[in-house]
Amino acid sequence: MSVSLHGRVLVLSLLLTGTAAFAADGSPKTATGNAAQVQSAQLQQRPGHAAIASANYLATNAGLEVLAKGGNAFDAAVAVASTLSVVEPESSGIGGGFMAVLHRAKDDHDVFIDARETAPAAVNPRDYLNPDGSPNRDTALKGPLSAGIPGEPAGLVLIAKRYGRLPLQQSLAPAIRTARDGFQPDARLRHSIAEEQQNIQRWPASVAKYLPDGKPPADGAIWRDPDQARTWELIAAHGDDGFYRGETAQKLVAAVRAAGGNWTLADLAGYQAKERTPIVVNYRGYRIVTAPPPSSGGVAIAEILNILSGFDLSKMDQAQRVHYIVEAMRRAFRDHNDYLGDPDFVKMPLDMLLSPYYADGLRQSILPDRATPSSMLPRAEAPEPGMHTTHFSIIDADGNMAAITSTVNYVMGSTFVAAGTGVLLNDEMDDFALVPNKPNVYGLLGSAANAPAPGKRMLSSMSPSIVIGADRTAVIGSPGGSTIITQVLEGILHFIDGESAQQIAAHKRFHHQYMPDEVMVEDGTFDPATSDALTKMGYALKQRESWGFMNVVTWDRKTNQLDAASDPRRPSGLGKVQ
Ligand code: GLY
Repeated sequence: MSVSLHGRVLVLSLLLTGTAAFAADGSPKTATGNAAQVQSAQLQQRPGHAAIASANYLATNAGLEVLAKGGNAFDAAVAVASTLSVVEPESSGIGGGFMAVLHRAKDDHDVFIDARETAPAAVNPRDYLNPDGSPNRDTALKGPLSAGIPGEPAGLVLIAKRYGRLPLQQSLAPAIRTARDGFQPDARLRHSIAEEQQNIQRWPASVAKYLPDGKPPADGAIWRDPDQARTWELIAAHGDDGFYRGETAQKLVAAVRAAGGNWTLADLAGYQAKERTPIVVNYRGYRIVTAPPPSSGGVAIAEILNILSGFDLSKMDQAQRVHYIVEAMRRAFRDHNDYLGDPDFVKMPLDMLLSPYYADGLRQSILPDRATPSSMLPRAEAPEPGMHTTHFSIIDADGNMAAITSTVNYVMGSTFVAAGTGVLLNDEMDDFALVPNKPNVYGLLGSAANAPAPGKRMLSSMSPSIVIGADRTAVIGSPGGSTIITQVLEGILHFIDGESAQQIAAHKRFHHQYMPDEVMVEDGTFDPATSDALTKMGYALKQRESWGFMNVVTWDRKTNQLDAASDPRRPSGLGKVQ
């Protein structure tokens, strides 16, 4: 690579180390489409009807049922999330955590709900190493040591109490009924159980739940989960105490410790879901409200949009457009690896990372006609991005909005069910940088900022977002490990380009995450001429099977039309307008 690129990288390094007290507003300084910030006065409209898009039709219907009983978008969110715990346990649930961006219409209040898991007090980094010092991928991803203290129950109780209209008994009723009466597992759940069968077989309570006759449920079988129904009932009756104290807490701790884990009752009693200030970035006249740390998603999306705001993408051919987007992704993911962690533990240079001046420097380091090898932007390694987690989007009749991404991390989480609770524990500990500079399951690297510590939240890629324009609004998100960030980014760009909810959910995708230094490409994304042009610029294109499960709701305020779309890549999803 040329000396001039080296020079640019040196300039970039200086820009990176020189912190400055810039405003944490992502307003693009040199934006081609830098229209005025959307004023809240323009947003005071009611759609008069509602829309929900989620990964499973039973969950979407649960949300609509709660709206019909007088609930708002936030009550519906509680119903959708708790029902997903029952019908889509491979992706999210009661033993996991979530991140949410909520918009309350009556006072234009935006808030981020952090229901991310925390490390137990006895967390010990040596538990995630083999005797020879190499990373132990089994303890990081399977069994009770891989599980953080769950955040989903506390997060849902917080949403219901502070933002909902209905008591938990009503918003949790569909999940309790579905778990008690049973449902037919869809093909994706049956496939996930089969995929994880060997791990599930290691834990008796997991076998009892997922392999009832020694094998995954058959097509058409009715599947019941009375233990989970009872745990949700305790939460409905006692709020946080139904999970984090008393009977459920005792069963969770007993099961975890009996299987070699280290949770205590104090870990559970000490868990708190938190309200945080979301990240807001202005781009081409739209206000994008997205996830702050301990998600890396909002910081990366803001950084990418700030870099892109200096280009007029609409005047470029596809290859040129992809080139600039990938270079922006590359730079944002490098910062992800170096700086981000739990804001309660780590001081992060967010003013710098979100500053338009910082973006100016990054933009200048992009060559117009060729890729910048990631090795020229110091740091490194490789992955297989997993595709689990779930996202749903809601707009209610009053214009309240909920974007919620929820997870147990990898497929079927830890595969460990705590006996007597119906709670499948997450394997979120792998989202910490358990071994510095060694990739996690998504190939993401981490530094001290994301090292495990007692009570600390592990970094996430979850990027629930709300995009608010003068005429059109979108609630958007997706699962997909590290690809969540680029999926949501591309969805935002497509929405701003005028695409419908259906077009956004269906749009072909590409992804770059700094390391490995390759562009992951879904089949059919680029025509041969674009692939050829990108290859000539120095990009390694790697064809991958489809990824993501985007669920988008849009609201056109001129026509007052709501649209709800679930990713056509997965037939079990349902977007529905009521
Ligand atoms: N467990 C996936 C994420 O939070 O990014």
